[in-house]
Amino acid sequence: MANGSYQERRAAIETYFDRTAADAWKKLTSDAKVSRIRETVRAGRDDMRATLLSWLPADLTGKRLLDAGCGTGALAVEAARRGAEVVAIDVAPTLIEIARERLPRDLGPGSVRFEAGDMLDPAHGDFDHVVAMDSLIHYVPADVVRVLGELAGRTRGSILFTFAPRTPALAVMHALGRFFPRGNRAPAIEPVGVETLKSALAAAPALAQWRSQRTKRVAVGFYTSQALELVPA
Ligand SMILES: C[S@@+](CC[C@H](N)C(=O)[O-])C[C@H]1O[C@@H](n2cnc3c(N)ncnc32)[C@H](O)[C@@H]1O
Repeated sequence: MANGSYQERRAAIETYFDRTAADAWKKLTSDAKVSRIRETVRAGRDDMRATLLSWLPADLTGKRLLDAGCGTGALAVEAARRGAEVVAIDVAPTLIEIARERLPRDLGPGSVRFEAGDMLDPAHGDFDHVVAMDSLIHYVPADVVRVLGELAGRTRGSILFTFAPRTPALAVMHALGRFFPRGNRAPAIEPVGVETLKSALAAAPALAQWRSQRTKRVAVGFYTSQALELVPA
């Protein structure tokens, strides 16, 4: 996607997850003790990952799944355990290294290929399912719609992604700069109202053959994120 704002955001996200926050992510995504605030984020993320996994078929044998912005790889591993051939991509090479170190030897019939790069690289191929958990929250809604349109052209089954829902409480938190624990210079989160997002998706020519289906908001302490499922119309 040659779009300037997408490229700029991706570069800022890479710097943040690959350097600034790499250690914090490693810790947050492990069993290590974290602050009470981060415990709520961890609990919310566990809930969100379980939600997304529950929206995929129980048996993923022989299915190709893209974990778009896989981070340290927890969702990719779970999908592989259910038989999927997972292509797990993250723009932050440090997180990909951690994901590779954590990859269990025995995944049963499934597999995971972790690779550093852009989730939109056409070289990754075609997919039965795409999951993007909290990896599009830093892009402006117009770019999110473009990203999803591009992925839709390579996907046969469902696309599951999350966004930061625009709610009055969150607007206050964002204004106070408290959405994430203090002082981590994270790239901005781009909240969007669920109806605004659904309308934008419905109006996108690249998504004309797709429709929004299930949605679920997870709000636990300092973690708020909303999942949306796109399926062929
Ligand atoms: C909030 S983290 C979530 C990671 C993982 N999905 C999880 O839930 O544990 C967002 C991830 O998306 C990745 N990301 C953002 N934009 C990306 C892009 N265009 N291509 C690949 N990865 C991207 C970031 O590097 C980061 O690791």
